[in-house]
Amino acid sequence: MLNHHKCQKTDPESLGNLSVNSLSLKILEKEILSDIIIQRGLLQSSYWLELLGRLSQRVVIITDDHVRDFIAHPIKEQLEKAGFDAVILSIPPGEKSKTRQVKEDLEDRMFQLGYGRDTTLIAVGGGVVTDLAGFVAATYCRGIPSVTLPTTLLGQVDASIGGKVGLNTAFGKNLIGALHHPRWVLIDPDVLTTLGQQEKRNGMAEIIKYACIASKSLFERLQEHVELDDLIYQSCKIKKNIVEQDPQERGLRRILNFGHTVGHAIEALKEYQLSHGEAVAMGMLVEAHVSWKMGYLAKEEFQALARLLHKYHFELNSLSNLSATELIRVMKRDKKAALGRIRCVLLENIGKTVEAAGEYCVAVEEHLIEEVLHVYTQN
Ligand SMILES: NC(=O)c1ccc[n+]([C@@H]2O[C@H](COP(=O)([O-])OP(=O)(O)OC[C@H]3O[C@@H](n4cnc5c(N)ncnc54)[C@H](O)[C@@H]3O)[C@@H](O)[C@H]2O)c1
Repeated sequence: MLNHHKCQKTDPESLGNLSVNSLSLKILEKEILSDIIIQRGLLQSSYWLELLGRLSQRVVIITDDHVRDFIAHPIKEQLEKAGFDAVILSIPPGEKSKTRQVKEDLEDRMFQLGYGRDTTLIAVGGGVVTDLAGFVAATYCRGIPSVTLPTTLLGQVDASIGGKVGLNTAFGKNLIGALHHPRWVLIDPDVLTTLGQQEKRNGMAEIIKYACIASKSLFERLQEHVELDDLIYQSCKIKKNIVEQDPQERGLRRILNFGHTVGHAIEALKEYQLSHGEAVAMGMLVEAHVSWKMGYLAKEEFQALARLLHKYHFELNSLSNLSATELIRVMKRDKKAALGRIRCVLLENIGKTVEAAGEYCVAVEEHLIEEVLHVYTQN
């Protein structure tokens, strides 16, 4: 069961005219690891500069070459006007930059420029930048404070929350990393206006996932029109609640993988040519179908998810030219698999996952998953 933590609303008085939505990510109700602040116009305000000033006057902005000019540069100018010593270090956009080599290059440039422990690292970008920059912050001089300014919807609702930072290797994605929480996650939905449709859908798939695993009311509201700001706030709150209950990813946090066992297999077989959001949407449909066939989820709820995914224009035909046998082979390599058996996060209801004997991933018989996959594949 998820605890519903009380969300702290920051006192609007302390922020001039800016009234913000604020969530504090805490472990054991004690130490605040991150404050997540969500407000349109936040990055245009002096409020976030006041927060930053509490850490250090020396900042390194890590961004990617794409968002550098229209988001990171104006931020640097704003910081310099406010008296900060700021430098931008930029990496090529995309997953190919999440490597040890790129991390090492960033660190070397920071040493060459003379940045030490008195530095705050600001990550400005999508999940690639926040994962990599967060990992630099975790290890540079044995750890320096960081602040995250996520600029994609996926970054705002998912990648920037929970402290998982890291990089990819030739052996797989996100295999090297750490848990390092940014002091502040500053979410300004205004920065999303330049985001492409595909990137928005990557975030939307994760929002639908949160509704499926933790909030029937969010699921119902998604069937109507919901303001984007509200979706971001509700999603951050759900992820924060899950992370607080399982900060080390020992159990409950696995429910965040709903749709991802099948989704990752689709991505791998499509050689990452399909967007993550489309793969996860299809993965959620298949895993909800399995949940229905195993007698957990009502057929009507499975159908409601299929309708919701259609409403948000997910293609749901990404399996059409894949083989069920190949998908199963890849799923058996998934890190949740045990003793060669495929394990998935399943739904008991919309808003609640199956928990069996303290486990949040359920073993699925191969013949059953094959039967379900055949509904969506041609062979
Ligand atoms: N740490 C976690 O808990 C966690 C969770 C989910 C995903 N991730 C990671 O996140 C990464 C994916 O993140 P992503 O989907 O944000 O991809 P991304 O960081 O590659 O960004 C996608 C593209 O959008 C561009 N972009 C960013 N902001 C923009 C804006 N405001 N306007 C226009 N273009 C913009 C980027 O330059 C990039 O080309 C993956 O590496 C994944 O492993 C991490």
